[in-house]
Amino acid sequence: MNNFAGKLRLGVNIDHVATVRNARGGAYPDPVRAAKLAEEAGADGITAHLREDRRHITDPDIEGLMDALNVPLNFEMAATDEMQAIALRHKPHAVCIVPEKREEKTTEGGLEVAREENRLAHFIAPLRDAGCRVSIFIAADAKQIEAAHRIGAQVIELHTGAYCDFHAEGRFDESLAELEKMREMSAFAHSLGLEVHAGHGLTYETVKPVAAFPEVMELNIGHFLIGEAIFRGLTPAISEMRRLMDEARDGG
Ligand code: PXP
Repeated sequence: MNNFAGKLRLGVNIDHVATVRNARGGAYPDPVRAAKLAEEAGADGITAHLREDRRHITDPDIEGLMDALNVPLNFEMAATDEMQAIALRHKPHAVCIVPEKREEKTTEGGLEVAREENRLAHFIAPLRDAGCRVSIFIAADAKQIEAAHRIGAQVIELHTGAYCDFHAEGRFDESLAELEKMREMSAFAHSLGLEVHAGHGLTYETVKPVAAFPEVMELNIGHFLIGEAIFRGLTPAISEMRRLMDEARDGG
């Protein structure tokens, strides 16, 4: 039994409920309804990424989530003035700063913190002052972690995308190498006093090794869960993820 970090939290990302809704341009399916269902199914938090191009989550969705949720909202955003103003208006429990490119399908890499330290330090200061827990989405790289620590972030979220992609492609040696890097960097970040989260691309097949890292306090998972909900429903999809996370945490 591994009690180092207590219960591992599951943040359910509901962006892709909005992707399906937006495919028809109407109001169905409603991501706020999905978020409430996820909450009932045992999600410890809800994550939503308001992208610059509003391709999935929209401004009214953020308002609806802030009004409806009983669990914390983790507001993912790019480091832009527009997003900072929105975050300061709503004051969500948490903000996660992510890199964003219009042409990408998803958040492809971690944020380059080390090269933008000054700007990011100034950017996150008002968010912290407003009471938001600031997280920075980064690769498992000591240079980026040290920079995230120096700018005053309370949390880093490790980008698990490369690990999951290698696994999906059957490139298991490379997948394991990524996992090892994340294991080392989780411990390193924790030693600096940072809270460690992880996410991106996680599935039932890839979640357990990451969930077993004792320093990891939260996993944020979206695309796979929303996809799996098509086959088994959102509540069972989330319950199974929760079960696997708990099993990994218990050493199973
Ligand atoms: N964490 C962060 C910072 C993300 O940007 C995303 C994708 O929006 C996720 C977690 C969830 O990734 P996925 O949808 O692939 O599970």
